[in-house]
Amino acid sequence: MSLEQLLAWIPPGSPDEALARQVNFDQLPAHVAIIMDGNGRWAAERHLPRVEGHRAGIDSVRDVVETSARLGIDVLTLYAFSIENWKRPRAEVNTLMTLLKRYLRLELGTLLKNNIRFRVIGRVDELPPDVRHELEIGIGRTAGNTGMLFNIALNYSGRAEIVDAARRAIAAGITPDDLDEQHFSDFLYTAGQPDPDLLIRTSGEMRVSNFLLWQIAYSEIWVTETFWPDFRCRHLLEAVVAYQKRDRRYGGIKQPTTVALGAK
Ligand code: IPE
Ligand code: IPE
Ligand code: MG
Repeated sequence: MSLEQLLAWIPPGSPDEALARQVNFDQLPAHVAIIMDGNGRWAAERHLPRVEGHRAGIDSVRDVVETSARLGIDVLTLYAFSIENWKRPRAEVNTLMTLLKRYLRLELGTLLKNNIRFRVIGRVDELPPDVRHELEIGIGRTAGNTGMLFNIALNYSGRAEIVDAARRAIAAGITPDDLDEQHFSDFLYTAGQPDPDLLIRTSGEMRVSNFLLWQIAYSEIWVTETFWPDFRCRHLLEAVVAYQKRDRRYGGIKQPTTVALGAK
């Protein structure tokens, strides 16, 4: 969108404002993907149960979704629950599902106000029926929006996504000769979306934890020590500003700056 729309949402004179002014709006990442991590450690630092970290993390989601929409990001993908996360204690999983339902119910208005289209990526059919119901409402009510696409990765695994895509390609009768990288990506959950330009991970872990394995082939990675419940607008702006200083080569070489004819 624009600097004005972002500034309207940022307290004047704050560090966020200084960061917002450093953003080059002609070079925004089209797709930002975030591995929201560190909720449990955030809670442990405060001698609170892990679920309090998840609860606090909802405020970060709210902030980041609206900041991204105002900034003018085309696609935001948040990793909320991996297939591997079912290994956690049942009470923690139940709280995560309840928080998700509550978020969707309470934030639908914000999504509509910001013209955000909501989508889910992952094995949605394996989620509990009440969660699916809430997701369907969110997807249906925002389907006509034309602004930022907000994907939430739920019951998601990058490897499972690739297997699901292969199954769909086979079911669609694709022959080996028809299949190339572009065609294959049409069977992924993210079909038609740009690959993430910027992948953010909070809490300092240097791993991708089975997230968007196909799509992050050439993403710029930005890891912050900040735990997810402390992550706000300013951290996202910091990541975008850092991203804009990167030299993306895609396996090629840095383009030499044009030298004026006759220059030595
Ligand atoms: C991220 O925080 C939330 C989910 C994975 C659902 P964690 O719950 O993984 O928190 P840490 O990494 O244990 O601190
Ligand atoms: C990644 O975080 C999954 C989500 C953010 C939903 P985890 O906390 O599950 O990842 P690991 O176990 O540290 O790799
Ligand atoms: Mg974690």
